[in-house]
Amino acid sequence: MSDKIQVTPYDSSGGSKKHQVTRMFDKIAPFYDNLNRVLSLGIDVQWRKKAIKLLKAENPKTILDIATGTGDLAIEAARSIKPEKIIGLDISPNMLKIGEQKIEKQNLQNVISMEVGDSENLRFESLSFDAVMAAFGVRNFENLEKGLSEMYRVLKPGGTIMVLEFSKPKHFPLKQLFNIYFKNILPVIGRLKSKDEKAYKYLYESVQVFPDYETFLDILKSLGFTEARYKVLSAGICCIYLAKK
Ligand SMILES: C[S@@+](CC[C@H](N)C(=O)[O-])C[C@H]1O[C@@H](n2cnc3c(N)ncnc32)[C@H](O)[C@@H]1O
Repeated sequence: MSDKIQVTPYDSSGGSKKHQVTRMFDKIAPFYDNLNRVLSLGIDVQWRKKAIKLLKAENPKTILDIATGTGDLAIEAARSIKPEKIIGLDISPNMLKIGEQKIEKQNLQNVISMEVGDSENLRFESLSFDAVMAAFGVRNFENLEKGLSEMYRVLKPGGTIMVLEFSKPKHFPLKQLFNIYFKNILPVIGRLKSKDEKAYKYLYESVQVFPDYETFLDILKSLGFTEARYKVLSAGICCIYLAKK
């Protein structure tokens, strides 16, 4: 990742990417779920459902949800896969607080536990989980390879990684329409509703530099993952990546 352009939410005086990302998500946490639904017209819910459906085929009993945020992916996994245990980890305490309230409301606290942590330095022993997953999280890592290699380390042999992440549509006219929406419209709605000047501009910029499709598979393979594949969602706005240890 070191040779790639690093996009940060705020300017260089705001500290490291990790510090800025934590600050940004702590700030927008109260608005995050609502903005997701509004900005994606509710499609983000379907994306998570599809991703979990693919992971369900692997029948994981223990799951680590990296960058769990407000817990939507973990909650969907708990309901659909019915594993023994899910740990949701995130660097932003305010995102987790909202997630914990949702988990309690849905009476899922026996299955899902949440904790503050950095995905690039996981506290877990190697070979701990049947599946490790992340939705819209890995794009925010300061060091993508470090974060992914930690995900690899804590997976059991034969375990599955699932990453759901934005990608860039390749074909006319969606490519052009998506670009107009993502670059010009979404940041304005995001700014008004989240009260953060930069967060949704950062969303657009971080997607532009994120290594999507085959490039992301190549990174997974270089870290030791096998059977790496992806499924395109919504004509390329989003992708589900799956691979095995
Ligand atoms: C766009 S949100 C995604 C949340 C959730 N997975 C979802 O599907 O809505 C990205 C999350 O990644 C978290 N994050 C970013 N960098 C992280 C890191 N190094 N370690 C743990 N969490 C991180 C942020 O705090 C934020 O909650």
